[in-house]
Amino acid sequence: MDRLRDKVAIVTGAGSGIGRAVAVAFGREGAKVLVSDSRTDGGGEATVTAIQAEGGEALYVAADVSKEDDVIRLVRAAVDRFGRLDVMVNNAGVMRVGPVTELTEADFDLVTSVNQKGTFFGIKHAARAMMKTGGGSIINTSSIAADHGQHGGVVYAATKGAILSMTLTAASELAEYGIRVNAVQPGAISTGILAASGVRETPDRAARIEQGTPLGHRRGLPEEVAPLYVYLASDESGFVTGQKLAVDGGISADSHVI
Ligand SMILES: NC(=O)c1ccc[n+]([C@@H]2O[C@H](COP(=O)([O-])OP(=O)(O)OC[C@H]3O[C@@H](n4cnc5c(N)ncnc54)[C@H](O)[C@@H]3O)[C@@H](O)[C@H]2O)c1
Repeated sequence: MDRLRDKVAIVTGAGSGIGRAVAVAFGREGAKVLVSDSRTDGGGEATVTAIQAEGGEALYVAADVSKEDDVIRLVRAAVDRFGRLDVMVNNAGVMRVGPVTELTEADFDLVTSVNQKGTFFGIKHAARAMMKTGGGSIINTSSIAADHGQHGGVVYAATKGAILSMTLTAASELAEYGIRVNAVQPGAISTGILAASGVRETPDRAARIEQGTPLGHRRGLPEEVAPLYVYLASDESGFVTGQKLAVDGGISADSHVI
């Protein structure tokens, strides 16, 4: 339980879902965790409580990742409180779903500013801090939607593709500073992101996901995704950079057509 002993980590979008599971797993492995989110329902604070309940060290800082000043403040808070930054998880994300003929400019601007611009700011300012201490690990939450067409996801999937692209470039540029940059591609994971985006779960949609997920014919749990983040944050992955790694129960292994 000390794979991240003494490492300092920031997890954005950690007030719920995958981010919360990652932050809790990091705390369990001995990391000092700066939990961040933009939500105002106490989700971020609840994540801190969950980490502390297991004897871990954590701090909550509210931030909107689409605002560069917020991300600068976030990184500064980690360094001020814990002395350094070793791991940055750019995980905050939003989704808007609809036909390409119906999605609006406002949808485009929102999803792009949180998912793509937020990840850019996170990479940029985490890397600046990590350069001062000899390296670190940046982990970006992409999606398997980045590799495939996704009905209704013309904007969302594109931001997840942009995250993969930024991961490659940043991995290449930052390697000389000892900074590794990788992307995680979750499949269909049971979180509140669909509800938050206004999508109503239908029996059709649930059945499609169950049929299309070879392992277990079900959605994954955030706790099943988190161990990959622990690996990428730890020194065990010290020679791994510029990679995209899916946790999707096998969805992407099959074309589902032939
Ligand atoms: N759930 C899935 O099936 C799935 C699949 C692939 C990728 N993902 C990605 O995983 C990540 C986490 O999503 P989740 O499924 O856990 O959903 P979630 O809604 O539980 O978590 C997303 C979190 O991001 C926060 N957030 C939204 N806008 C923000 C902003 N501007 N600044 C800071 N925080 C903000 C939300 O408040 C929320 O707590 C997202 O990037 C999402 O795109 C999810």
